[in-house]
Amino acid sequence: MRLAACRAHIRPEPPVPLSTRPSSRRPVPALLSVLALSLVAAVAPAADPPASVHPSLWPRAHWPFPPDPALEARVQALLKRMTVEEKVGQVIQADIGSVTPEDVRKYRLGAVLAGGNSKPGGARTATAAQWQALADAFYHASMDASGGHVAIPVLFGIDAVHGNNGTVGATLFPQNSALGNARDPELLREIGAATAAEVRASGLNWTFAPTLAVPQDDRWGRSYEGYSEDPKVVASYAAAMVEGLQGRAGTPQFLDGSHAIASAKHYLGDGGTRDGVDQGDNPDDEATLARIHAAGYPPAVDAGVQTVMASFSSWRGAKMSGNKGLLTDVLKRRMDFGGFVVGDWNSHGQVAGCRNEDCPQAINAGLDMFMAPDSWKGLYEHTLAEVKAGAIPMARLDDAVGRILRVKLRLHLFEQGAPSSLPLARRAAQVLGSPAHRELARRAVRESLVLLKNNGGVLPLDPRKRILVAGEGADSISMQSGGWTLNWQGTGFTNADFPGARSIWDGIRAQVQAAGGTAELSVDGRYARKPDAAVVVFGEDPYAEFQGDIPNVGYRPGDTRDLDLLRRLRAQGIPVVAVFLSGRPLWVNPEINAADAFVAAWLPGSEGEGVADVLLRTREGRVAHDFRGRLAWSWPKSAVQTPLDPGQPGYDPQFPFGYGLTYADRHELPPLPEVSGLSGAQVPAGVYFERGRAVRGYALGLYGADGARAGGDVSPAATADGALRESALDYRAQEDARRFAWSKDRARLALAARRPLDLDRETNGDVLLVSTLRVDAVSPQGAWLGMGCGAGCGGRVALGGQLAALPKGQWLRVGVPLKCFRAAGVDMRRVDVPFEWVAGPGTAIALSRVALGTNVDRTLDCAAP
Ligand code: BGC
Ligand code: BGC
Repeated sequence: MRLAACRAHIRPEPPVPLSTRPSSRRPVPALLSVLALSLVAAVAPAADPPASVHPSLWPRAHWPFPPDPALEARVQALLKRMTVEEKVGQVIQADIGSVTPEDVRKYRLGAVLAGGNSKPGGARTATAAQWQALADAFYHASMDASGGHVAIPVLFGIDAVHGNNGTVGATLFPQNSALGNARDPELLREIGAATAAEVRASGLNWTFAPTLAVPQDDRWGRSYEGYSEDPKVVASYAAAMVEGLQGRAGTPQFLDGSHAIASAKHYLGDGGTRDGVDQGDNPDDEATLARIHAAGYPPAVDAGVQTVMASFSSWRGAKMSGNKGLLTDVLKRRMDFGGFVVGDWNSHGQVAGCRNEDCPQAINAGLDMFMAPDSWKGLYEHTLAEVKAGAIPMARLDDAVGRILRVKLRLHLFEQGAPSSLPLARRAAQVLGSPAHRELARRAVRESLVLLKNNGGVLPLDPRKRILVAGEGADSISMQSGGWTLNWQGTGFTNADFPGARSIWDGIRAQVQAAGGTAELSVDGRYARKPDAAVVVFGEDPYAEFQGDIPNVGYRPGDTRDLDLLRRLRAQGIPVVAVFLSGRPLWVNPEINAADAFVAAWLPGSEGEGVADVLLRTREGRVAHDFRGRLAWSWPKSAVQTPLDPGQPGYDPQFPFGYGLTYADRHELPPLPEVSGLSGAQVPAGVYFERGRAVRGYALGLYGADGARAGGDVSPAATADGALRESALDYRAQEDARRFAWSKDRARLALAARRPLDLDRETNGDVLLVSTLRVDAVSPQGAWLGMGCGAGCGGRVALGGQLAALPKGQWLRVGVPLKCFRAAGVDMRRVDVPFEWVAGPGTAIALSRVALGTNVDRTLDCAAP
């Protein structure tokens, strides 16, 4: 059925370059769109059932600020002078990609943010000077009192989640999942202070950190943002991090010019969604929710955290951004939280009955500030109308605005002047990535490494010997830093984008050379002279949020690249040390078996030399730094072992929570079981074609110039008219790719999905359709990449010149932004052909993999001229 529909829609249209299309969206027959709408209405979930909350079951906390009559008087005076329009403006935060200083002046918005991909002037990356200039512009706009407006300085928030990671040259601390293993709250306090200093030096005053999630299922793509699967570890860090960022409540340093507003997130239960699905539903009973997922909040409130971010996720079906019981009755009343609650990126729009532009339910439930990145204007208008109509009580609005004003007053925002005038901002060049901050980060790297295996005492290595450093992660600041690094997903960067940072290779080289040894870097492990030992660095590519969700905890199931490298070196009699970069524990038993020593290095950030500090002896042969890290996570025994709960009977991980060797341990790890537990191909969502074949649920079709279809799942194959031919070839393994050659115009290949895909979320983010391909020849008549969305629905993106410009005969990961397909008319909510390639005669490409992703060698941009 589906295939027939696709054939019908794709056949008649000759490839038309995108730029020459009269309108990007193809007309959809009226009847069809009515049907589509009623279908959407029919499948939309009914209103969320209210999950009842019993505040007395919850822990208490204590807001640490004594009554302050002077501050209260200022809040009341401001509220009295403000118009209802000004009050509504205060409760809205817009993203700098969609708001200008002029908008802030006009709408009196309370805050702006820079989302992961939003930079001053739309730049790719930004320096402290660029951030300061933008922050000044927003500040001056907010302080413009002309026209009788009340001047209220704007807050400017950013995700400084492992250091001030959105600014070029900043110190990048290890991600939180690494820091948990250090069990060192004082370290966290220092990291918080250093991060706040770099944030203020960049002109910003609010960070969306710390994440107090307690991840229970490592398939969750945000596991690395949490400190530990254990609520006690999270609780022990929460106050230290908040006090590091904000300063200690009651001291003169509290929220002074070198500290920033913190945001405990994501309240509540983000780490407990079913199957680790991001933004999903947490099914726990109330007691479990309170015991596990709330653990970090009382200490954060006790430390005076100024904001709490409501979670995207839901609890028992009800989205947190509309949950009055948990936002108001528990957080604000039971826990005494006196700061303000901010939403997450349009999270209010997911509350039952809401849209991004309209959601009185959220503010009535206790949300104080909407994070409305691109939807702020519509939201402002609806919210204003709802206050005027009484649907939002004035008392609720006043309470929300009062909370926001108190935070701004505590931050001394009214007195501090323009962001660039702060002493730290004037010394930005000395503060960003300062030697002291980098030294602190390097110490954090040392403390968070966990030694899982050290057979034969192969570690520590002697730096006077010949050491080979291999693997994809050996010299990649990107891989060692993970997501939320310079941009949202942390992808698309080279080491040149990280001035002052050191890769793991940099660190090993420096120390080996200083000791008189020889270090050689070779990513693929081929060497000039046989080394005395090899350090192989490999692991996950960067990801953020739902892009990191995986169906099982296997490390790259089916891809033996790294394993082959470890085995190859070991087979040559070289002692092998594996350094594993990952945001979470993954099943790597084959890799552990293939190495003599195995180090879980997590995502260490910009100071890769911290790894060398622990792996190498000093030149005098001493151990300067032993391993100190203890797993803050349970390490799985199979790829399907999740969740792993130390409290449960039958708990049987490969390495238990708390595990970690030191050099004093003479432990010989026996060979580990290599049964992954995966049955058949468990393909992650978003993979359509893998190792030269359509994955389960997809079919490859070849279509001749006449539109007739031939199956492409078995090669060789060809269309009846001979217009398109397919043959198998070897890329990394035997027959793991297919080559397609066109001899007539209008022939095409298409991957059809058995069930339509909803790619809306991915399209709103910055996700790409990534093809691992080799271009052998490009027809002068061009080539198009398309998607289909049912009968009469689809769109194509012209690749012509950009494709022709790619190097011939070379394998590359080539991405096309999903936004391009939307712009070309594809309805991204019902994609049934996620990949369609149309080309002129003479074109020849080889294809190994097609998947959604962000990690690419080249991006072909539909917006490019
Ligand atoms: C994330 C938050 C983040 C916000 C602003 C959201 O998508 O869930 O953690 O603070 O974006 O970038
Ligand atoms: C933004 C992130 C945000 C995400 C949510 C991205 O485009 O840059 O900050 O968290 O969208 O989908």
